[in-house]
Amino acid sequence: GKYRVISTKPMPGTRWINLLIEQDCRVEICTEKKTILSVEDIIALIGNKCDGVIGQLTEDWGDTLFAALSRAGGKAFSNMAVGYNNVDVNAANKCGVAVGNTPGVLTETTAELAASLSLAAARRIVEADEFMRAGLYDGWLPHLFVGNLLKGQTVGVIGAGRIGSAYARMMVEGFKMNLIYYDLYQATRLEKFVTAYGEFLKSNGEQPVYWKRASSMDEVLREADVISLHPVLDKTTYHLINKESLATMKKEAILVNCSRGPVVDEVALVEHLKQNPMFRVGLDVFEDEPFMKPGLAEMKNAVVVPHIASASKWTREGMATLAALNVLGKIKGYPVWGNPNQVEPFLNENAPPPA
Ligand code: GLV
Ligand code: GLV
Repeated sequence: GKYRVISTKPMPGTRWINLLIEQDCRVEICTEKKTILSVEDIIALIGNKCDGVIGQLTEDWGDTLFAALSRAGGKAFSNMAVGYNNVDVNAANKCGVAVGNTPGVLTETTAELAASLSLAAARRIVEADEFMRAGLYDGWLPHLFVGNLLKGQTVGVIGAGRIGSAYARMMVEGFKMNLIYYDLYQATRLEKFVTAYGEFLKSNGEQPVYWKRASSMDEVLREADVISLHPVLDKTTYHLINKESLATMKKEAILVNCSRGPVVDEVALVEHLKQNPMFRVGLDVFEDEPFMKPGLAEMKNAVVVPHIASASKWTREGMATLAALNVLGKIKGYPVWGNPNQVEPFLNENAPPPA
């Protein structure tokens, strides 16, 4: 192959590799055993000739790496992730490297995990499972693992972009919840969906569902029974959920985070969980991955999973494919690959950050 493309990790499926090979690329996959590669590890991989890199959200793509990639003749970098808080897009721009991400293919998969965590927290699934396995079940009881009924309650969505909107639809339609959302942008299609669904329920003689666009995040925190976080992580959303915002929520609220760990002040969250045993959380992401803040692992009112929101076979193969297409498109000088309504592979060239 004429072009040298590196993937810092083995990725699912073969389609992404074949696409690159068919288009004159030599693909090198790093098989280093340790999970998180350092900047030095990646500089060594890049070497002195590299046309493009597919990297992971665990890597720190800043000045140093983009300078190294640029010196090696590299033109393109794609994160295999929709989030790109690990990527300094300005640094890439300065070095003449285009940056891509993988939106679209993980929307439903991620929303389904947020829904799973919502249900797991509401119905105390993990606690109950541990109880069974510990041999503690000695007969049905009216009080055993009583949780929250979602129907008729309010789901709150902070960040109603692709994933937040998909999650909202699942919760509204699946569980007949009312919706309150906060976003800088109006989620018009989501509002239309909830309106139409409410009409349908009414025509069926059932209690309708309602939606409201909140004028502040606090309004969501005050009113919602289940709150799911779907913002982009940046300076404005760092510790968006902190001691004060937690205190604003209902004592029996459920908080779900499938966005990025630092959106939540995890130390404050642990304290809040201790003080409020009826408050529950479902977490896919953590402030200091792979670690949890002290005390979190002991909390019965927390469900924790290891950053697996996009982990379905279809989605992970799709992410790998999109990442490969991002890099390939830039190397080959093509404008935009895929469905332009669904993907915006080059953040720094033609797309605002996902809302
Ligand atoms: C995963 O966290 C992603 O951003 O795709
Ligand atoms: C954010 O990236 C989203 O897809 O909602």
